[in-house]
Amino acid sequence: MYSLKRHHACSTQGKLPITDLIESTMKKISSLAYRLTNRIMLWLCMKLQTTRVYNKPMHALFEMSSSCNLDCPLCNTGGLKHEFKHIKRGNMSFTTFQKGMNTLLPQLEHILLYNWGGPFLNKDLVRCITYATSQNVTTQLSTNMNLYTQDLGRGMIESGLTKMVVSCDGLTQKTYEQYRTGGELAKVASAVLDLISQKKQTHSKFPLIEMQFIVFSHNEHEIEAFETYWKNKGVDTVNFIRMSYMSEVGEKVAKANRMVPQHQDFQPDHPYGSIKKCSFPYGQITLNYNGDWYTCCFPAGETDYRIDNILTADFWTVWNGPYYQYSRKLLRTQQIPKGEFQTMCHDCTGIFPQRDGIRNYWSMSLPVLPMADASQARNAGNTEHSS
Ligand SMILES: C[S@@+](CC[C@H](N)C(=O)[O-])C[C@H]1O[C@@H](n2cnc3c(N)ncnc32)[C@H](O)[C@@H]1O
Ligand code: SF4
Repeated sequence: MYSLKRHHACSTQGKLPITDLIESTMKKISSLAYRLTNRIMLWLCMKLQTTRVYNKPMHALFEMSSSCNLDCPLCNTGGLKHEFKHIKRGNMSFTTFQKGMNTLLPQLEHILLYNWGGPFLNKDLVRCITYATSQNVTTQLSTNMNLYTQDLGRGMIESGLTKMVVSCDGLTQKTYEQYRTGGELAKVASAVLDLISQKKQTHSKFPLIEMQFIVFSHNEHEIEAFETYWKNKGVDTVNFIRMSYMSEVGEKVAKANRMVPQHQDFQPDHPYGSIKKCSFPYGQITLNYNGDWYTCCFPAGETDYRIDNILTADFWTVWNGPYYQYSRKLLRTQQIPKGEFQTMCHDCTGIFPQRDGIRNYWSMSLPVLPMADASQARNAGNTEHSS
């Protein structure tokens, strides 16, 4: 968790500075008290694996845009979007964002501004981050950086964005574009250098910049050089992560195209059967661009798994309603309870590695095409809906 110290929410217009200072200090103390109580309740509910909970979520995912400008081969929003044509896509409005935030405040501490899409496609992004910062909520986004502009960089700094993860899996255009289909490494590099330079000019520590590199067979030889290059340029962290298949069809695509690296530390992560306790139904919610509410990040935009909509829902009625109680019971017992709900937890490979007799979110059993054909299919199947 990042430090909240640097954030401030005060306006001096028309008020004596001392009144303003007292007001802002009281607001901070009250918010800290709420958050501390909330953390204790969360810890207790998680520990006891209760079906009803008495805390609110500490974390939330806000899908600023469920569309993307690139076509990464294993991604449901990119290269595999032709498999997910039924999903409506769009950008979150400031009104939806603010309603979501206000419902979760003051207990909410940290938000992610992305789930499965490209946050830079949202024109209200800076306004949303500014609002979150004014409420002492820390913010993080992940971006392919291809849509960066100097103005956007300035906006990221002035709005108080806490951390920016830059997805960049290569040190040359040849390796980079193997996964970031449609992306230009030169654009990413000059964007990051511009942001570093703007941070220096404004003496800003934030946003922290993390260069994220997914290790594949085609780029594993660049690991060391990538780290040296970006550390020398002045980014805050360089992070090498394991590839994920993302879905069963993703697994087929990855294997057919020999994307799995040899490096033993970066074999694709298999959480199969390893989840005994999951914190999502206790401490985090996911909101799609249109305010649709999900338990976790996986079933993005799949309306069958939608719990409610934050614009119309009464928070506590849903948070302790039958759907959430059912999911928490499922997690505690690792058995499917009697009831009518189809939850994402049924399909979670972390909990049910066999998944026999239950619905398979991950089993999109479409034929796997070689990469060139897949890209034609992608172009043919790009139907989108914007808010
Ligand atoms: C779906 S992306 C959405 C955010 C943004 N478009 C981006 O790529 O950074 C969310 C995160 O998943 C990562 N990601 C994409 N494909 C991945 C894969 N096959 N394995 C592991 N992580 C992946 C991205 O690098 C990013 O950090
Ligand atoms: S840049 Fe991100 S959202 Fe876009 S296709 Fe790639 S992984 Fe998916």
